[in-house]
Amino acid sequence: MDTRLKKLLFIFGTRPEAIKMLPIVNYARENYADKFVVKVCVTGQHRQMLDQVLSLFEVVPDYDLDIMAHGQDLYDVTSKALLGLRPVLADFKPDCVLVHGDTTTTLASSLAAYYQRIPVAHVEAGLRTHDIYSPWPEEINRTLTGGIAEYHFAPTEVSKANLLRENITKNVEVVGNSVIDSLLWMVKRINADEEINTMLTKRFENLGLDFSKQTILITGHRRENFGDGFVNICQAIKEIAMSHTGVQLVYPVHLNPNVQKPVNEILSGIDNVHLIEPQDYQPFVFLMQKSFLILTDSGGVQEEAPSLKKPVLVMRDTTERPEAVDGGTVKLVGTNKALIVKYVNELLSKGALYQQMTSSQNPYGDGNTSKLILDYLSFPKVVLFYRAT
Ligand code: UD1
Ligand code: UDP
Repeated sequence: MDTRLKKLLFIFGTRPEAIKMLPIVNYARENYADKFVVKVCVTGQHRQMLDQVLSLFEVVPDYDLDIMAHGQDLYDVTSKALLGLRPVLADFKPDCVLVHGDTTTTLASSLAAYYQRIPVAHVEAGLRTHDIYSPWPEEINRTLTGGIAEYHFAPTEVSKANLLRENITKNVEVVGNSVIDSLLWMVKRINADEEINTMLTKRFENLGLDFSKQTILITGHRRENFGDGFVNICQAIKEIAMSHTGVQLVYPVHLNPNVQKPVNEILSGIDNVHLIEPQDYQPFVFLMQKSFLILTDSGGVQEEAPSLKKPVLVMRDTTERPEAVDGGTVKLVGTNKALIVKYVNELLSKGALYQQMTSSQNPYGDGNTSKLILDYLSFPKVVLFYRAT
């Protein structure tokens, strides 16, 4: 019998991957030291936004490819990550590579592992819109990763069913979404500590915010929305701000230059629109807690908000996360200015729609995902081994 510790390599590169992978990394290090040797490789597809999360979880990567360049495109990220991972995999010789979700880092990492015949475990597997251009390129990144992976950790029965329909039937486990592990940890930390609460309130007061006002929190960064979509979104935000001067709109602006440009051009200089830097996870969770409603195109925020009982208007035409839409917390409004304004107006009036959107349960699990994944990988029937020739 093989008694040596199995080597797990977690590879990720962007903010949301880090938020969803680091609770698993830390859980493994704290509770499974007798089973796994755990190392972390970051591609550095993101830099500041990734480093914020690494330092919060107190994880120093064992490998850092540091690939980010300003204005990088999909070719840059894919090729740099793929080439950068070759020596990392050859050096550590992991028994299994864990990747997350749907970014270009995810696909490049899966491919890099496959080229050295190393089994891939895909966390947050099986989400689909079935439209390869929405989200773009994430739908294809996730689908191709599903084709490469040996272990598929699906957040819900819906995502499991998507995989089964593609004849991916082996090693498919429903485990919830590890974003809830992170979120619950963070909410507990904020709520249990009066000092943290006071510090965060002060921090935002210094930025000119006043939480006695109704607060609309906004995030947006999807590539398929660049251009007209973003202009429409910004125009809608402007109209909402002008017609509800007593409401404050808070927008931590993603660092992508394709986002920065239209947002700053259309929305700077409006008194009740607060354009702020991307926030560390702790202050961002605090902002979600303080908000009355959330306008976003983010995947992670769609998953977190139902746990906080916050209504979310999703500024996309499709979602690979239908569970919260079906549950009533999330509504798809696209990038149509009139529709965004209409639903925000309706929610601000605090009528039936608001009651309905704040009363449902979170479909993405109870914060136990890290344990379920690691239990599964340590189960004897899972044979992990390095297969490089
Ligand atoms: C990426 C992912 C997307 C994910 C999003 C999370 C792909 C194709 N896209 O999109 O799936 O939802 O991250 O936020 O994988 N930048 C910085 N500092 C940072 C991060 C980004 O300056 O810490 C700027 C850089 O100019 C960079 C640009 O943003 O070139 C774009 O970053 P990139 O990772 O390519 O795309 P995102 O839009 O962030
Ligand atoms: N988030 C954050 N700071 C911010 C905005 C978002 O920490 O200023 C968190 C948010 O809580 C969620 C994740 O980042 O967990 C979502 O990341 P993003 O929207 O960039 O990517 P997506 O989830 O759409 O892939």
